Amino acid sequence: MGQFEIVKDFFLGISRSRISFIGGMLVTITTPFLLTYMMADTIWHIKNPYSGAAVYLALGPVFLVGLAMIFVGAFFFRGDRDAHLFTLEYMRKYFTEPGMFLRLRKNVFLIVLLTSINVAVFSMFLYRAYHYMESTSFCGQFCHTVMEPEHTAFQNSAHSRVACVECHIGSGAGWFVKSKISGARQLLAVVADTYPTPIETPVHGLRPARDTCEECHRPELFHGDKLRITKRFLPDEQNSAVHDVLLMKIGSAGDRAKSSHGIHWHVAPENKITYRSTDHSRMIIPEVILTEADGTQTVFRTPDADELLQDTASAAEMREMDCIDCHNRPSHIYLLPDDALDLLLAEGDIPQELPYIKAQAMEVITPTYESLDQAKSTITSKLTNWYKENYPQLVTEKPELLKRAIKGVITAYSNNVFPEMKVEWGTYVNHITHGPDFDIGCFRCHDDMHESPEGKTISADCNTCHTLLAIEEQDPPILRTLQGEKL
Ligand code: HEC
Ligand code: HEC
Ligand code: HEC
Ligand code: HEC
Ligand code: HEC
Repeated sequence: MGQFEIVKDFFLGISRSRISFIGGMLVTITTPFLLTYMMADTIWHIKNPYSGAAVYLALGPVFLVGLAMIFVGAFFFRGDRDAHLFTLEYMRKYFTEPGMFLRLRKNVFLIVLLTSINVAVFSMFLYRAYHYMESTSFCGQFCHTVMEPEHTAFQNSAHSRVACVECHIGSGAGWFVKSKISGARQLLAVVADTYPTPIETPVHGLRPARDTCEECHRPELFHGDKLRITKRFLPDEQNSAVHDVLLMKIGSAGDRAKSSHGIHWHVAPENKITYRSTDHSRMIIPEVILTEADGTQTVFRTPDADELLQDTASAAEMREMDCIDCHNRPSHIYLLPDDALDLLLAEGDIPQELPYIKAQAMEVITPTYESLDQAKSTITSKLTNWYKENYPQLVTEKPELLKRAIKGVITAYSNNVFPEMKVEWGTYVNHITHGPDFDIGCFRCHDDMHESPEGKTISADCNTCHTLLAIEEQDPPILRTLQGEKL
């Protein structure tokens, strides 16, 4: 027998079994591509979601299947001429005859080497594939149309550098597995085209904020109030700028030394707030229970609580309040038309000097359009026609004003409305405020209607949460004072 008998037998075994042979081919063809891509990805962190999918979701699994086929074929599906390699007699001969045993030792080296290479490629693959599937480009861009609203809003938010998985999965193996199972289900829904539009909010499946948000934020270390100055624009000829100035009572969730107070009082360890809601999106909250550190409980209920809670099956679900009950949209923030336009006007993307642009923009931006293209063309033609008719001189003298305005208005639309996914203005409610109608967010509880048996209510007093320093004032004295001007 020759020096590399085992190796020869090994390859013979592979070629004799059709399954092993195909497996061998798959491995041979995929390995160079796989290795080159993984090296490049390790060095340059390739951001393209599609090449990543081709390698980690298609090529990689083919490589693994090929590897498995080689061994399965060699063990179980040997061809008509037995290649001996994995039979008991063959092994026994090697181990009992001293001459052959020596040769075996040399060959063991080769086998160990081959196995190590496989293990190395294998673990490198798992590691890179894991990183790929945790990447923002995979989560946000692979199913481009489906995730476009969330990905766009995410990129416009303060959290655009925080990976999707930090909020949606967090750390730990259990949640990783859970997320991959639900991810696979979602991928199937995309392939089968059975996903809901708009995508449902995962309110009930989200991981508790303590394991996600609180890995980075510590409301117990917050202190003091926060000044919030918002520039707004009125729908008059001058698009008059006005200011809202609010002192937000951010407060603190308390710490060993400090007591909890203000807005973040809700998430202090000593105040446990639980509530029951009667609908999936938790808009209607008939009962709120406050449990203090000493065990005292106060139950606040609305007058119709008995009736509402009796009717619903979900009434039994009791939820403990955490960050998400107020910050439900920390990253996917879709603005309302008024706010979206004001933001772009304040930044100058929509020119303030164009007469009536706020009013005209509101008019063209609010209707429901079939598609983004339809919105773009209608917005462009309507604005162009209106200004040509009413301000012909301005249009000829300063055409760039109108051009800039159209571009800005389209941006305001395309950042917040996604017709293909049926995300319209206000589809996703943001609970961090009460809205202009005092009916959402804080006012689900703070409406003076939730009453305890002792007659205590959850306060709707305008000074509970903020001090209103100026509302829609053109030249608020408080801003002058803050800027150091003497009045
Ligand atoms: C700062 C935390 C955070 C980050 C980062 C984040 N999300 Fe979310 N996401 C949330 C929360 C909270 C909700 C639940 C919203 C609700 O209940 O109203 C949510 C909801 C969603 C939804 C359901 C639809 C919706 O708008 O309610 C999708 C889809 C989604 N996120 C995808 C992503 C993708 C993709 C990324 C990365 C590009 C990402 N998220 C990054 C916190 C985050
Ligand atoms: C991986 C770390 C990380 C996680 C997880 C995280 N955040 Fe943040 N968050 C940040 C950083 C960093 C900023 C500041 C960004 C900036 O100001 O540019 C921020 C800013 C904020 C702000 C201020 C936003 C603004 O517009 O000024 C809020 C509110 C907030 N986060 C809430 C949350 C909530 C709620 C969650 C959980 C759903 C969460 N964060 C999860 C890192 C994180
Ligand atoms: C009762 C509702 C509520 C809860 C619960 C809540 N927050 Fe807030 N939070 C607010 C409001 C309101 C603001 C002020 C928003 C603004 O800037 O106008 C705020 C502000 C913040 C800010 C920005 C602070 C700053 O100084 O700019 C961060 C960060 C934040 N919250 C994180 C959290 C985290 C993390 C949790 C959970 C542990 C949490 N919040 C729980 C309502 C809440
Ligand atoms: C799930 C119900 C619920 C929601 C939603 C809610 N709160 Fe509260 N909040 C309470 C309860 C209960 C109290 C305690 C009432 C009492 O004992 O007087 C409270 C008390 C407060 C206090 C007084 C804290 C102190 O220092 O004693 C502030 C400030 C406050 N909430 C702000 C907010 C803001 C801002 C929001 C929305 C972003 C909000 N809350 C949303 C239930 C809620
Ligand atoms: C339970 C807490 C709470 C109560 C009570 C409350 N607000 Fe607010 N208010 C908020 C929060 C939170 C915001 C949003 C801050 C943000 O958007 O970051 C807000 C924002 C506002 C704004 C600014 C809107 C904007 O977008 O510029 C006005 C105006 C306002 N509130 C008026 C009132 C008035 C008037 C009352 C009394 C009838 C009142 N609020 C009661 C919590 C409260």
